[in-house]
Amino acid sequence: MKDIFEKIKANLGPIGEHAKESHGYFTFPKLEGDVNPHMKFRGKSLLNWSLNNYLGLANHPEVRKADADAAAKYGLALPMGARMMSGNSDHHEQLEKELSSFVKKEDTILCNFGYQAMVSAIDAIVDRHDVIVYDAESHACILDGVRLHMGKRYVFKHNDIDDCVKQLERATKLAEQTGGGILLITEGVFGMRGDQGKLKEIVELKKKYNFRLFVDDAHGAGTMGANGGGTGEHQGCQDGIDIYFGTFAKSFALIGGYISSTKEIITFLRYNMRSQIFAKSLPMPLVVGALKRLELMRKHPEYREKLWEITRALQSGLQKAGFNIGDTNSPVTPVYLNGSIPEATNMVIDLRENLGIFCSMVVYPVIPKGMIILRLIPTAVHTLEDVKYTIENFSKIKDKLYGGEYKADKIRAGFSQEL
Ligand SMILES: Cc1ncc(COP(=O)(O)O)c(C=O)c1O
Repeated sequence: MKDIFEKIKANLGPIGEHAKESHGYFTFPKLEGDVNPHMKFRGKSLLNWSLNNYLGLANHPEVRKADADAAAKYGLALPMGARMMSGNSDHHEQLEKELSSFVKKEDTILCNFGYQAMVSAIDAIVDRHDVIVYDAESHACILDGVRLHMGKRYVFKHNDIDDCVKQLERATKLAEQTGGGILLITEGVFGMRGDQGKLKEIVELKKKYNFRLFVDDAHGAGTMGANGGGTGEHQGCQDGIDIYFGTFAKSFALIGGYISSTKEIITFLRYNMRSQIFAKSLPMPLVVGALKRLELMRKHPEYREKLWEITRALQSGLQKAGFNIGDTNSPVTPVYLNGSIPEATNMVIDLRENLGIFCSMVVYPVIPKGMIILRLIPTAVHTLEDVKYTIENFSKIKDKLYGGEYKADKIRAGFSQEL
């Protein structure tokens, strides 16, 4: 028999085992100052490409005022319970109504975190007779929802419609035996690669297969579609999405999430989603803050246009400079490079310490060994100057990486990490 604490001491997990070298720098970095493209990291101002603030609303003066006024008026305590018990308000209901009209669905339920919303909605919707079919590169909140499922699940290769059909065939056979239904879950925009889920093609499959489609559009809501209504709007198939999920953590620059669908489904979720029945509802300032952000999003399409101008400049500039950005067709911009983990860390230290750029780095075990992704998230408040500066300096680090300069310990030697 093992002592639980001894077991944990011996294995801190695939990311945790690097905590000693990474904590405070590569993991848990502290960015200081107002949320904008230039923030302080370890006392120095850096150009930041690692913020979930697509439309630049985080520091918008009207947003800051609405947040502050709501906090002064209501405090953070209100409402004082779960929605079902004592935590409902006119503001919560108004926000649900306005979100429904934004994403063109009959009704919406607000949720206190996006992650929990997905996990818990999946848990509520399916029972052990039902079958889940889902994309292999789904976000952790989908995977964790699927883990709670007591019935069968079939995974299809990422964005591979032929494989999706194969899994739907298997799911259909099984559901016919169990008497259950099929829930197909995918994403609007995949947050790591930036490619859109093939929603239109999946919706077309409904003509042949009997399933309901649940789409996590965390990165697509507010950024995609002529009105910002999401990836379904962009692809012209929003009606075919049966259950739509968005988070406040990206374009809204806030906290919380929402699920939109038919009146019956949302009523069912209100009374059956355990994460919402058994947890306190969104605090009033977040709800009032979300209403202000939604108003601005709808009133100012130019914020989305600016996001796309920066996105296009960044992505086409990187490609012209010879970078591989994969198959992104959203603002999420991954830059794929090859190198070892020490080379990746030396490169990011060089970027942060000498070139003044902060972005996220993704390496093994999140992606295969030998691959490095530098992930850039453009926003409407970045400038074309920021884009130019970044591409010039990315070209420098690429030359250094492939010239073997990050193999040596030169850069690490000059950098000391206080833990
Ligand atoms: C695709 C996707 N789904 C869900 C979430 C979870 O949302 P939240 O941060 O609101 O919990 C995220 C990340 O934030 C995400 O990228």
